[in-house]
Amino acid sequence: MEHPLSKYICQIYSEILGKQHEFVPLHEPVFTDKEHEYLKDCINTTFVSSVGKYVDLFEKKIAEYCGIENSVVVVNGTCAINLAIKALNLPESSEIILPAITFVGTASAIVQSGCIPNFVDIENETFGIDPKKLDEYLSEIVAFTPEGTINKNTKNKISGIIPVHIFGYQCKIDEILIIAKKYKLKVIEDSAEAMGSKNNDIHLGLKGDLGIISFNGNKIITSGNGGALISKNNDLLKKAKHLSTTAKLNHPWKYQHDEIGFNYRLSNLSSAVGCAQIEKLSFFLEKKQKLALFLQNKFKNFKGVKFHHPKTTSSPNNWLNAILLEDNFIKDLDLILDDCNKNNIMARPIWEPLHKLKPYKSFPKSNIKEAVLLSKRLINIPSSANLL
Ligand SMILES: Cc1ncc(COP(=O)(O)O)c(C=O)c1O
Repeated sequence: MEHPLSKYICQIYSEILGKQHEFVPLHEPVFTDKEHEYLKDCINTTFVSSVGKYVDLFEKKIAEYCGIENSVVVVNGTCAINLAIKALNLPESSEIILPAITFVGTASAIVQSGCIPNFVDIENETFGIDPKKLDEYLSEIVAFTPEGTINKNTKNKISGIIPVHIFGYQCKIDEILIIAKKYKLKVIEDSAEAMGSKNNDIHLGLKGDLGIISFNGNKIITSGNGGALISKNNDLLKKAKHLSTTAKLNHPWKYQHDEIGFNYRLSNLSSAVGCAQIEKLSFFLEKKQKLALFLQNKFKNFKGVKFHHPKTTSSPNNWLNAILLEDNFIKDLDLILDDCNKNNIMARPIWEPLHKLKPYKSFPKSNIKEAVLLSKRLINIPSSANLL
């Protein structure tokens, strides 16, 4: 072990696990008997595909948890973004604003929808879109025309914005919504990482036009793969559900489709796992809060490192814990990550800023500084609900 920080991180997990630890994953799912019971039920009843009681039940449970009437479950969070873009009728060849720091799926969903990503910078409290820089950027590039909001530089329409709630913490969504209104942009909240996160009793993802959640195996609850659309707007959810089920019209036996749809509905098998998981969400939230507080305390007095815990979210889900290297440690990022991984601690950097990746280099962007700085100083450390 070469670096004092990696040594300390390994020590922490040895202490948590009470022994010389084996491999410690970044975030592993926790299952109990219910998943087995519900899956067996699917197989015994032969309902394993996109129709079945668990699909409807999972939607009901998500909606209940979020305090809304409906939700729509789909095969993953990336497809949920794709579907949200289509449900909102954001036109092909229009630009959609997104932060330079997010999972690549946010950007690929935009491109796969026939739209154009336009990357903006983040602020360094929540790591979400910086509202001030966003407003400045839009004021420079936007022209209002009878056809709508146009990017003066590219001549494309700008139709929407996708703010991201990174690690389950609320980004500066209220300010972003005001700006979206000013420039007449639809808002899809990427709450992929935020299941269970609430601010002042409002679940993340419900302030914009549509929100999306991911139930990938590394999220706070999982359905294997899986995702959901949430919103207070039932008409939009209805439209999304119709599109997700091949746009098939209801009929006892006829195959009639009234538009080009998607085959994105979540399976009964996956939904069964999701139902069992969401029943335990409150328990996971408690466990994860305990772990976050423990880790926060551990890093309080470690020089050169800050524990990431923005105050923007009254009840965060504490999905993935992160530490930030201060100036003197930044040069050691790769060494620390190497050390941790060689010693069976699955530590990870944050994503590479998307505007720097080869497939996304040529898309429009603002002046991006903070996103690049963040990618040089953030380390995610193991955060599974079963650790403490
Ligand atoms: C911020 C963000 N957006 C979108 C996604 C896409 O979700 P999925 O992996 O379910 O496609 C993820 C999750 O992996 C994510 O973290």
